[in-house]
Amino acid sequence: MKQSVKLIVGNWKMNGLSAALAQAEAIRDAVSAAGQGPRVVLCPPATLIDRISAALADSGVAVGGQDCHEKPVGAFTGSVSAEMLADAGATVVILGHSERRAAFGETDADVAAKVEAAIAAGLEPIVCVGETLEQREAGEAIAVVSAQVEGSLPMGLSERDFAVAYEPVWAIGTGLTPTLEQIAEVHAAIRAAMIKRLGDSARTAPILYGGSVKPENARDILATPEVGGALVGGASLKAEDFMPIVKAAA
Ligand code: G3P
Repeated sequence: MKQSVKLIVGNWKMNGLSAALAQAEAIRDAVSAAGQGPRVVLCPPATLIDRISAALADSGVAVGGQDCHEKPVGAFTGSVSAEMLADAGATVVILGHSERRAAFGETDADVAAKVEAAIAAGLEPIVCVGETLEQREAGEAIAVVSAQVEGSLPMGLSERDFAVAYEPVWAIGTGLTPTLEQIAEVHAAIRAAMIKRLGDSARTAPILYGGSVKPENARDILATPEVGGALVGGASLKAEDFMPIVKAAA
């Protein structure tokens, strides 16, 4: 089902010191000056969530985390719980990003447990899936992504607000993107897997595309069937790059 309002999410990854607050404020001001548009969320590093949430309070831009621990509290040195993200002002959390699946060995079951934790803390999860280049070249993209959807979305998501993000691993930070036909094909498969897993309640949750989204390609990607928004990495760090993408979604 087509979403009327797109969702544009900026994933700052491990970028941003105190000075980045100015970029968040510039994005806030530009979003407010642009008027009616998509939902916009910024996901800065955990260290900035508190300050950016305060600066963006009551604006048209929400704040999210990039990961959370599956437990609410405990002896997990270095980890941040969903409850802590919410306490700092986040309302959204990205989970299962391929960088975490690859570098930290997160499995679908780990991601599903984190999604449950996010729901319990009142956060809206954005669950990432995507195939590697090897898997695409072997003709396995649809099977891999569908299995990730089924394994990473717990039943507790039924009737809750959430999103899925399709991020082909080979398109992240490379400047490469799938063709619009490939994006449409995978998004349709993701929708089918979401409905198979969660039933009719999964018909309206947005499916975002992520991977080298830029001002130049955003309009076409966002107009592709079943693309409910974008998860933007590098181009979300500066207002001048991010705003054309936000405006392309209006
Ligand atoms: O989560 C967003 C991301 O992985 C895409 O990064 O830099 O290719 O837009 P980028």
